[in-house]
Amino acid sequence: MPIPRIDLYSDTQTRPSPAMRRAIAAAEVGDEQRGEDPTVNRLQEMVAELLGKERALFLPSGTMCNEIAYRVWGRPGEEIILDRTAHALHYETGAPAALSGLMTRPLEGLRGVFDAEMVEAAVRPRDSRHAPRSALVSIEQTSNLGGGRVWPVTRIEEVAEAARRHGLPVHMDGARLLNAVVASGVPARDHAASCDSVWIDLSKGLGCPVGAVLAGGSDFVEEAFRCKHLFGGAMRQAGIIAAAGVYALDNNVERLAEDHAHARQLGEGLAEISGLRIDPAEIETNMVYFEVDPARMTAPDFSARLLAQHGVRIGAVGPRQMRAVTHLDVAAPDIPAALRAMAAVLAA
Ligand SMILES: Cc1ncc(COP(=O)(O)O)c(C=O)c1O
Repeated sequence: MPIPRIDLYSDTQTRPSPAMRRAIAAAEVGDEQRGEDPTVNRLQEMVAELLGKERALFLPSGTMCNEIAYRVWGRPGEEIILDRTAHALHYETGAPAALSGLMTRPLEGLRGVFDAEMVEAAVRPRDSRHAPRSALVSIEQTSNLGGGRVWPVTRIEEVAEAARRHGLPVHMDGARLLNAVVASGVPARDHAASCDSVWIDLSKGLGCPVGAVLAGGSDFVEEAFRCKHLFGGAMRQAGIIAAAGVYALDNNVERLAEDHAHARQLGEGLAEISGLRIDPAEIETNMVYFEVDPARMTAPDFSARLLAQHGVRIGAVGPRQMRAVTHLDVAAPDIPAALRAMAAVLAA
């Protein structure tokens, strides 16, 4: 497939900038498995500090962060309490079951955000000989399938308090935690304070080619390091890729506000196009979910025409649903251009 002219498929589609490539080329490296890679160590310290945790661990992907945390917190046959829209439930190839023998207990949250009462109702009684045991509560900041919705910090605290009443740890899939930080103005460590494990992705809004960093208490991270080996994620001179993360944390966080402004602008423009349906008030960060009128065409058809005729890539996520995501490689003029392309496809 040729590179689309405007790529709103996902914030994973960014390419490292020249400055990031220079940081990569200049990285000091060592054997990260032995704790001897200075750039990996620096990145881990930066993320531990950012998230207010004792230690952090560099990993190849966000999926591995989730799956290692689940492995550490759960035992075979136990349950992860999470939202029905959770990434781990739909897009991690059944890994909680395959890698850790865990079951999932999905909750009916609102656009990816559930509450303490739902957690209370889902926790299994510990004295039952029949029920599986609850292992942990897992939340996603921001919620991807929830449309990039931000979990308010008070809600995280309430849910964590409910989990704690039952002795359960709380894990945060923070693939887009920094989008939530920029949108809410609340520091990352406050979002993470009531979570026992939390990670950020480097390869999404931050614009890195690869990597994620998982943080928590010392004992948690020590055990997570064992699982990193177990799952084949331990690397060697990984400073080459960690350097991109260091660069991104120094340069690419505040600018996420631009992505959010672009998403809002896109949403408002979509609301004006006949044949599309959207509530722009639901756009909080960099995700824009909208619907195509089925009387006009299906979402996959709309997506295919948009790419073939205009070089604009926006994914269909259902028969009617589309998802556009703004990011570092989407410039201000791309938004009106994408809107014009969508109007033209529907008018044709
Ligand atoms: C909410 C969420 N969690 C986890 C992941 C997995 O991250 P990675 O692609 O780095 O494995 C993604 C990726 O899209 C995501 O959106």
